[in-house]
Amino acid sequence: MKTRIKIVLFILSTIFSMVIFTGLIQSNQTKEIYEKSTGLQSVEKNFSLQEKVKYHYVGMEKCASVCHNNEEMGFQYNLMKNGPHSNAFKILVSEKAYRYAKNANVTGNPQESFECLICHITGGGLDSSFFASTYRKEEGVTCEACHKGPFITKAFRPKAEDCLKCHNNSVHRVHRFNFEEKSAKIAHPRPVTKKV
Ligand code: HEC
Ligand code: HEC
Ligand code: HEC
Repeated sequence: MKTRIKIVLFILSTIFSMVIFTGLIQSNQTKEIYEKSTGLQSVEKNFSLQEKVKYHYVGMEKCASVCHNNEEMGFQYNLMKNGPHSNAFKILVSEKAYRYAKNANVTGNPQESFECLICHITGGGLDSSFFASTYRKEEGVTCEACHKGPFITKAFRPKAEDCLKCHNNSVHRVHRFNFEEKSAKIAHPRPVTKKV
């Protein structure tokens, strides 16, 4: 082989491996940020950019429009919209919110502070690349905060530990958390369908 061709091949393969390598680092970082901010364990694999886009947070309206607001499914959207979690972002304007913020040394608007949003909206603290255009932070803590992060592909049933990543006293005092009791308060089961 001519030396010139060898050099060109060498350069090309170096560029190629650099691209692959940075891609790997990025996907690992994303995974780390995600796990850190949500406390949810993502499934063990590397995530390509394609997958990141595929598992965007889409927001609660989208879940409703796709299938979670009909009788057969159990009107989860209506139940959640009238439940406490849909208020989680809105309450950050209250007097109490500013008091909590002050006690936690958070200056500025709680609705714009990472320290509060991490538990008061879905995907709090993640950058915009994680959100589809249908996502609205005003919806507060929504389906995807409990059921699916951007990287969890199949239906996910939350357990106590998934609630405790928010229901804890790390920033301000919250009520004692009992999983059965609190789950019952936000119950939105799929109706058991009779066999024909
Ligand atoms: C670690 C998660 C977490 C963080 C971070 C967090 N909160 Fe909360 N917050 C909760 C939970 C859970 C509740 C539900 C209330 C309960 O169980 O007592 C709540 C409730 C509230 C309420 C209404 C509760 C009441 O007592 O009426 C306000 C106001 C509030 N948070 C403000 C803030 C502000 C301001 C910040 C940022 C400084 C913040 N929160 C950060 C988890 C968190
Ligand atoms: C605060 C956390 C939380 C939010 C928000 C939430 N869920 Fe759930 N969801 C749960 C828990 C806990 C269960 C019960 C899991 C179990 O039975 O093991 C559940 C159960 C379900 C079930 C029943 C699963 C089955 O097979 O019986 C469906 C369907 C569901 N949720 C859909 C939704 C939809 C749609 C939204 C948004 C409109 C939503 N959930 C919002 C925590 C949540
Ligand atoms: C992303 C953070 C987050 C997760 C995850 C989460 N919550 Fe909450 N939860 C909140 C916040 C914030 C509030 C306060 C909302 C408000 O007062 O408007 C709240 C309020 C509640 C309330 C009403 C207040 C109370 O304590 O009675 C119940 C019940 C509740 N959550 C149950 C659950 C259950 C059960 C799970 C797990 C299946 C869960 N939450 C997961 C953030 C979260």
